[in-house]
Parts: sequence; C-alpha cells; structure tokens
Amino acid sequence: MYVLGIETSCDETGVAVYHDQKGLVIHLLYSQVEMHSDYGGVVPELASRDHIRKLVPLIKQSLRESRLESKDINGIAYTAGPGLMGALLVGAATARSLAWAWQIPAVAVHHMEGHLLAPMLEQDPPDFPFVALLISGGHTLLVWVQGIGRYEVLGESLDDAAGEAFDKTAKMLGLGYPGGPRLAALAEEGRPKIQFPRPMTDRPGLDFSFSGLKTHALNAFHAGAKCEQDKADIAAAFQEAVADTLAIKCRRALQQTGLNRLVVAGGVSANRAIRGALAVMAEKEKARIYFPRTEFCTDNGAMIAYAGCQRLLAGQHQGLDILARPRWPMSDLAPV
Ligand code: KG4
Ligand code: ZN
Repeated sequence: MYVLGIETSCDETGVAVYHDQKGLVIHLLYSQVEMHSDYGGVVPELASRDHIRKLVPLIKQSLRESRLESKDINGIAYTAGPGLMGALLVGAATARSLAWAWQIPAVAVHHMEGHLLAPMLEQDPPDFPFVALLISGGHTLLVWVQGIGRYEVLGESLDDAAGEAFDKTAKMLGLGYPGGPRLAALAEEGRPKIQFPRPMTDRPGLDFSFSGLKTHALNAFHAGAKCEQDKADIAAAFQEAVADTLAIKCRRALQQTGLNRLVVAGGVSANRAIRGALAVMAEKEKARIYFPRTEFCTDNGAMIAYAGCQRLLAGQHQGLDILARPRWPMSDLAPV
C-alpha cells in the first residue's frame, strides 16, 4: 500500500510517500523559516498562503521523483491537528480533494502521533509498550504508549512547551527566529556557570513548567550579560536546566510505569545536549532510548505518511469531511 503523507500544521510543508512493505519511498520538505524570520516568529496567514503555493508542486515532485503515478497511490494521510487552523486547512482540503478525485481513502492524522511514531521509520524501531517524551514547539508530553492510538498522558507542560521556552528565551537574547536551533548553537560556545532551577522536580508528579526558566534567563541577561560569552553562558545554563529537568521526569516515568523503553521525539529532540542527557539517564536506568534521525525530529511528511498508513491498514479512514482541529487531545484517538 502506497500512502501519500501531507504535513502543513505550522511552518513546514512536508510531503512523503510511504509503502507498508518497502518503507519510506520519498520525503520532501519546504521550510518557511526564511519568510517568517523577518517577523521574528510564525505569521499564521503567511504560513497558510505559502502552504498553498508549495504543497501541490511538492506532491507532483514526490510522485515524479519516486516514479509513481497518481493511480499507484492507495491512500492519503494528512495532518488534521493540532496546529494553525489556516495552515491545517490547506493540507486537509488538498488531501481530501485528491482522495476524492483519485477515489481512495483519506485519513486524518494527529500531528503528535506522527512525532511519536517517527522512530518507527528507523532501522531498529521500538516495540510497544514504551514511554514517549514528546517535545515540540507547541507540546511537552510524557505518554504511556501501549500501542498505536492507545495513549495515556502521564504529564504535560502547565505553561510553555519546551520548544516555546527555547524560542522565547532565544528571542530575549536577541537571537531571532528560529530560536531553538540558534540558542542550541550558542549554548555550545558557553559554560553553564549560572545556577538555573529544575522546575517542578522537587515535588511528585510528571508535569512540567518551563516559563520560569525563560524569566530566569531574562533576569540573568539583565543582571550582567556584557559580552557574547556571557550570553553563551546563559544559553548553556538554560539548555542544561531544560535537559536535566526532562531527564529527571523521564526517569520518574520509567520507574512509575516499570517500562524500560523510552522514545523521544518532536523538534526539541534534535537538540544534542538534550539527547545526551537523556541517553545518560536511560543507561543508568538500564532502559533503551529511541530517537528519530535528526531530520525527522522536526516536522516532516514522512511521520504523517507512516502514521496514516498504520491506520489505513487497520481499515480506519474518514468520510468526505475536511477535518481540521487546532486543538485535539491525544487521548481522543481511536486505538489501532
Ligand atoms: O516538532 P516541531 O518541528 O514543530 C512543532 O510541532 O511545534 O518543533 C519545533 C520546535 C521549535 O520550538 C524549535 O525551536 C525547536 O523545536 N527546536 C529545537 C531544536 N531544533 C528545533 N530546540 C532546541 N534545540 C534544537 N536543536
Ligand atoms: Zn511538530
């Protein structure tokens, strides 16, 4: 079964073709980063318009380069949420229209389920059950994963998501957009000399709070960042605090569930220091850790094609409605 995957929930237009037996056939990505960087963040209306410009050419290119014709495609998977309403609607309407024209089923995919399943595209994928840490621009979630669509949220951020905290802190340090990777690059030049808190680790539970770290960084910045090196040191201390906090909560989640497999996915899982801290923790806990390859940590069409393929194989798809849900709790998903 060939599945065309379409991702347009935020600022990347992602298209991929996944085959249930042959694996990933092709994936293409167009990032809007350059366009939004003039504004210091994602401008939703511009994002929607750019998806309109880029999506159909990318779909055509993906078929051409994989030497497939439209009649070879057996199903279409599209991100139906969560995300920016206008951006989601571009992908959903295009996917639903193509599926109607080609007389094939279309399946609405949850963006965070896409992230969660991204490590399944790798050589040595995890078996169920496992604990998943999902760290993106909009979400920070710890999930007990029994199988596809069988998710129990163990903890989540009560304020900023991990990626949002990176982005806002980067903005305060004058690093612009996209903040996460820029702050990470600066942190590599610094040393974590300033003590940052590890929010919500002094009490039981698996929820997160990252907005205080941002304020802490701002205070440190105003208190005496005189040169580039000072800024790099603040970035390093901030990044270490996020990494440490995530590791502490993941250790707790592994201990609480008795599981020994941890999946880490979403844009922030591309961060080297965070990957390192989590790997050290997992080794101490005698747990195995699974990451997507770096390019599949951030948004992409491959994870959507994969997730949609699993649901289509199980006979799940939606009718003619164009589905777009800016808010969509993971616990609402149907099991496969
Ligand atoms: O998963 P993603 O591509 O989009 C959402 O679903 O939100 O995640 C984007 C987030 C942004 O906040 C971005 O700054 C962050 O991931 N990010 C990083 C790194 N690469 C991307 N944060 C820290 N270090 C990185 N290397
Ligand atoms: Zn994402």
